Amino acid sequence: MLELKKLYFTIQDDDVDNGDTRNIIDGIDFTFEKGKFYVITGPNGSGKTTLAKLIMGINPISSGSIIFEGKDISSLSITERAKLGIVYSFQQPARFKGITFRDLLAIATGNNDEKKFLEMVTRVGICPLSFLDKEVDARLSGGEIKKIEMATTIAANPKLAIYDEPDTGIDLWTIGPMVSLLKKELSPKTTTIVVSHNRAFLDVADVIIIIDKGRIVYSGDLKSALPLLTDLSICTYHNNCERDQDAGCLR
Ligand SMILES: Nc1ncnc2c1ncn2[C@@H]1O[C@H](COP(=O)(O)OP(=O)(O)O)[C@@H](O)[C@H]1O
Ligand SMILES: [Mg+2]
Repeated sequence: MLELKKLYFTIQDDDVDNGDTRNIIDGIDFTFEKGKFYVITGPNGSGKTTLAKLIMGINPISSGSIIFEGKDISSLSITERAKLGIVYSFQQPARFKGITFRDLLAIATGNNDEKKFLEMVTRVGICPLSFLDKEVDARLSGGEIKKIEMATTIAANPKLAIYDEPDTGIDLWTIGPMVSLLKKELSPKTTTIVVSHNRAFLDVADVIIIIDKGRIVYSGDLKSALPLLTDLSICTYHNNCERDQDAGCLR
C-alpha cells in the first residue's frame, strides 16, 4: 500500500565548510503492506523521524519516490496526503491555545456529532470524558496531550497512521492499553507505522524495521532483530525499566 523507492533526504553538512552534503535518508527501498503493524527502531539520530516526516510530506524528499495505493504522492502537500488518508502523530505534539479536544475531534472527523465523539472517546478508553472540553494548551501534561493527539488520529480513521515515539511522556501504566489500542482498534483496516524503542511495541509488531545511518539494515521479526538491536546498543527498554531510554538498559 506504500512503496518507498530509492528515497533520499540530503542536507548541506554544517560540520564541513566545503559544501559537502550528508544523506540523512540514504537510499531507502521498502514496501509496506496493507493492515500490517510496523515498528521502526534504531539508534538516536539514525533518521527515523526524518523518514516518517518524508512519508507525511513534512520534509521534502531530495530524490526517489513515494507511492501510496498505486499513486505517486512524492510532490503532494501534507494536506493532500492527509486527504488520501495518511495521518501523522508528532513526537512533540502541537499545543493550541483556545482550541479544545472537541474542536480537534470535529476537525479530524469532519463533523460535530456529540454522540459520535463520546462513542469514540469511550472506545479509545484512554481519554476521560472530561477531556472533551479541555483546551489543548500549555496547561496539559505531555502525557495528556499525547493521548488527545492519539485519539484525534484514531478518530480520523486513517488508511495509514504514523506515530513518532507515541510513548514519550506517557505514564508507564498507560503503555499497555495504548499498544493494544493502536494494534487492535486500527489494524487490520489501517496500516500502522510506529517509531519506538519500547519493548511493548516491538512485541506486537508484524514487522520490525531497524534503521541505522539513514538505511534500513533489517526488516523482519523480533527474534532475529534482538541480536542486532544489542549490537547497535539500542535499549529496547521495558515498561518497568528504571532508567531513561537514552541511559541504556540495565538488563
Ligand atoms: N532538516 C534537517 N537539517 C539538518 N539536519 C537534519 C534535518 N533533519 C534531521 N537532521 C539530522 O538528521 C539526523 C537524523 O535525525 P532524526 O531523523 O530526527 O533521527 P531519529 O528520529 O532517528 O533520532 C540527526 O543527526 C539530525 O540532526
Ligand atoms: Mg526521532
